[in-house]
Amino acid sequence: MSRTFIICKPDAVERGLVGDILARFERKGLTLVAAELRLLDADILGRHYEEHVGKPFYDDLTSFMSRSPAMVAVLEGPDDTFAIVRTMMGPTNPAEAPPGTIRGDYGTIMTENLVHGSDSNESAEREIGIFFPALV
Ligand code: RTP
Ligand code: MG
Repeated sequence: MSRTFIICKPDAVERGLVGDILARFERKGLTLVAAELRLLDADILGRHYEEHVGKPFYDDLTSFMSRSPAMVAVLEGPDDTFAIVRTMMGPTNPAEAPPGTIRGDYGTIMTENLVHGSDSNESAEREIGIFFPALV
């Protein structure tokens, strides 16, 4: 078994797509173990996206991620659940994401790409520790 961390980003909440996105993961066979609607501030985003601090897109990314509440959640499933979630999300750029993926079905632009998922087991553990320290 393993756990991974996801965010239904502010665009997903604003557009009323959270239920659909979480339902996709549940129908796949993953289990929701924590979820909360939260307004993310610059501090927590700086920790979460520490690998991107200083990159050209960082300010746009954090402005977007903090503009309205996001649904932060933890999913549980088999080994490497993070990889299942990443496959279901699709590539970072929704314009290039295939139909059938969350980003491919609902998005068109790079910043507003609906969902975050940890990119490794190590990232999942780190990110769960940031957002849900009581679970670690
Ligand atoms: P995320 O972390 O949000 O799940 O997305 P990801 O792994 O697919 O992509 P990542 O490389 O971690 O980038 C984080 C977010 O930054 C924005 N981005 N913009 N303009 C650009 O070149 C660029 N690159 C990344 C995206 O919104 C991406 O989700
Ligand atoms: Mg990433």
